Amino acid sequence: MSSSSRRVALVTGSNKGIGYAIVRGLCKQFDGDVILTARTESNGQDAIKRLNGEGLHPKFHQLDITDKASIDRIGQFLKSTYGGLDILVNNAGISYKAAATTPFKEQAEVTLATNFWGTLNACNTLFPLLRPHARVVNVSSMVSQFTAKKCSKELQNKFTDPDLTMANVEQLMTEFVSSAKDGSFRQKGWPESAYGASKVGVTLMSFVQQKQLNSESREDIIVNACCPGYVDTDLTSHKGTKTIDEGADTPLYLAMLPPNTNSPKGNFVSERKIGTLL
Ligand SMILES: NC(=O)c1ccc[n+]([C@@H]2O[C@H](COP(=O)([O-])OP(=O)(O)OC[C@H]3O[C@@H](n4cnc5c(N)ncnc54)[C@H](OP(=O)(O)O)[C@@H]3O)[C@@H](O)[C@H]2O)c1
Repeated sequence: MSSSSRRVALVTGSNKGIGYAIVRGLCKQFDGDVILTARTESNGQDAIKRLNGEGLHPKFHQLDITDKASIDRIGQFLKSTYGGLDILVNNAGISYKAAATTPFKEQAEVTLATNFWGTLNACNTLFPLLRPHARVVNVSSMVSQFTAKKCSKELQNKFTDPDLTMANVEQLMTEFVSSAKDGSFRQKGWPESAYGASKVGVTLMSFVQQKQLNSESREDIIVNACCPGYVDTDLTSHKGTKTIDEGADTPLYLAMLPPNTNSPKGNFVSERKIGTLL
């Protein structure tokens, strides 16, 4: 097989935590190259060395999903090296600690910039490269459900509108941040959770992406959002009860869905089971 038709999988934020375990799993299960990415080159190279020690050989490429130039560079690299993309796992994410003293308005802007806008920008650049039968996994969280349940009825009706568009989702996220900044977020129907709002955005984004792909000619491209469970990582201050490999189970299952799968497709999945946002 020439390198330009070689299959390829990419995982964002995979120098540590769940993303690292997803790379480890893909190296074992996926017939193609696996790209481990990190925003900091040295952290990525260290992770590659650790996996090499286990006899696994992912490739490395820098990727910061908040940096448009970095996203463009990896897009160019994929296009020139592989001519496409077969698996995209949008795993990179951040969360302020409960005890953080950073003002809520700043937490809202910074969290959304990575978890929502960074993920969306990466998708917008990389989706044109998806080949038929490609699988996209957006690592969201059950916190999107907890948060959606605490939102106003008016917001909830928007979340569940079958005609929801990406412009609507973007507007909801923009309004969340602006209302966090001017202090009106409660009046606008949002609870005080920047992480939760960002993950509502990731879950809704995934539903809309599947609708968009269904209307295209490229066949059998599947997008799902998922929750990895409560995992022992830096993000949870190591309070999570699952190992990173247990947390990687559902994302890996979704990344490896066989050709022409009908379900899950455009869903939210937790413990390999389909759930709803509300
Ligand atoms: N752990 C849980 O219980 C849990 C539960 C539900 C959902 N999740 C979700 O699972 C995903 C992985 O979380 P985790 O627990 O494995 O956290 P983690 O150990 O903190 O790892 C997060 C990864 O994302 C990377 N990252 C952060 N900002 C980035 C950016 N702008 N560009 C590229 N990479 C970036 C981090 O890179 P650095 O090393 O440079 O910081 C790191 O590699 C997140 O989306 C999280 O919200 C986790």
